Amino acid sequence: RKPVTVPGLKAMKAEGRKIVMLTAYDASFAAQLDAAGVDVALVGDSLGMVVQGRSSTLPVTVDAMVYHTAAVARGLSSALLVADLPFMSDRDVPTAMDAATRLVAEGGAAMVKIEGAGRICEVIAALAERDIPVCAHLGLTPQSVNKFGGYKVQGKTEQAAAALLADAKAVEAAGADLLVLECVPAALAARITAELSIPTIGIGAGVDCDGQVLVVYDLLGLTPGKRPRFSKDFLAGRDSIQGAIGAYVADVREKRFPSVEHSFT
Ligand code: KIV
Ligand code: NA
Repeated sequence: RKPVTVPGLKAMKAEGRKIVMLTAYDASFAAQLDAAGVDVALVGDSLGMVVQGRSSTLPVTVDAMVYHTAAVARGLSSALLVADLPFMSDRDVPTAMDAATRLVAEGGAAMVKIEGAGRICEVIAALAERDIPVCAHLGLTPQSVNKFGGYKVQGKTEQAAAALLADAKAVEAAGADLLVLECVPAALAARITAELSIPTIGIGAGVDCDGQVLVVYDLLGLTPGKRPRFSKDFLAGRDSIQGAIGAYVADVREKRFPSVEHSFT
């Protein structure tokens, strides 16, 4: 398989081929997702919750992100590697440049992901200016959990939807190459996807995004308690992790996942 590139992702959008993204936190899972044909491996700061057992992503450090990103990089051969800028590492341009430099130079990431718009656009522009590809992240941005008062669907009112669309256009204009939309109504995500030239990747954002992402432990049914509505246990009824990841890849490519039961209206 040829290595997945940033221009390659844009070509996939243009050709209407779905982009498959999945989180990974170590070399073993990275190798599994790469072999299953996943296009993009995301070292999410969700590692704070699913690996470290914390109740939010806020305590995750740049050191932890670099450690896991480097481990994932060693397991990949073709998938594009994206790493999250953790809480407050994007607070100003110099701090964000330092964190992104570490994720790329020490961790081996090809792209960094940043939550939010507004003043974050200045950070996106600075990274883009230095040719560090950026994945923006809008909607339910988990680093804003205390402001939101919980993990809630975003963009539900007409006003909030208009603000989200404006933010999506702003991060694209600032130089983002990719946009994750988390927990937004499917119709709004479809509209944003149609109006942007960069690919959108949904999680709880309906089937009309240009691609999908899941937390790998959710996909394997490892999440304790109530599973998030947008996730699906792909290991149920299958007998291997490779089979579960393969089914996820096929279902995203064939638009069987997410269905309406995994989306918000
Ligand atoms: O941290 C993460 O895993 C993420 C995805 C859920 C998009 O940001
Ligand atoms: Na994240």
